Amino acid sequence: MVAKVRPLIAGNWKMNGLKSAALREVKKLATRMSKEKKPGCDVLICPPAPLLAPLRAAVKGSRVAIGGQDCHAAASGAHTGNISAEMLKDAGCGYVIVGHSERRADHGESSKEVRAKAEAVHRAGLRAIICIGETGAERNKGQTLAVIGKQLTDSLPKGCTAKNTVVAYEPVWAIGTGLTPTAGDVAAVHASIRGRLKRRFKDEGVKMRLLYGGSVKGSNADELMAVENVNGALVGGASLTAADFWPIVKACL
Ligand code: 13P
Repeated sequence: MVAKVRPLIAGNWKMNGLKSAALREVKKLATRMSKEKKPGCDVLICPPAPLLAPLRAAVKGSRVAIGGQDCHAAASGAHTGNISAEMLKDAGCGYVIVGHSERRADHGESSKEVRAKAEAVHRAGLRAIICIGETGAERNKGQTLAVIGKQLTDSLPKGCTAKNTVVAYEPVWAIGTGLTPTAGDVAAVHASIRGRLKRRFKDEGVKMRLLYGGSVKGSNADELMAVENVNGALVGGASLTAADFWPIVKACL
């Protein structure tokens, strides 16, 4: 039996957004959410760090949560340019994305480092969104399940629960390209992830949210969100405006 899991639609703004337009967009989103009698999903925006505090102030008390895009593993110290999970909590974040493929590729982050960051997120009392995904070359060699299996084992710390952890499957080749796996491909990968989570975390693994990410947009959200074991989306480009993001949220309302 497939457990009923409350979906999460998360927007990852990456390095995009300036204050006045950003405030306008999140306020529109919060207003739309406030008009829903009983929304069937949670909504999250992860803006660049300078926008965390103003966006949080703008949506406080609404149904839109704010999250960070990355954190350092330590709580504080001599790490110029970095931000700790505790600081993100202090800024009003509920979630922190860790291990995004752009961090893994551009900053050489290993799964071991991702795991330490996820531990830091848990230590701060926040929810970690842990990203995994294969490259196009790995997919072409038929290594998808092996690659994501290893990333999952190595990136998820002990003590993951359905409350403190979300797993996001983002095939690297689908990010920002307009390409998406077929619904059948997503189903196969998510079933494999679910099986591994269940074996390792038992009932918590059954209830843990599994997001799909990579070129999700209004036109494909219904199909992707209907796939078994897909409990929401991690959205890049289409999360930057309320007009583009709303149809994706609606797919889970
Ligand atoms: P796009 O939705 O722009 O493909 O980005 C996906 C992503 O990387 C979200 O974290």
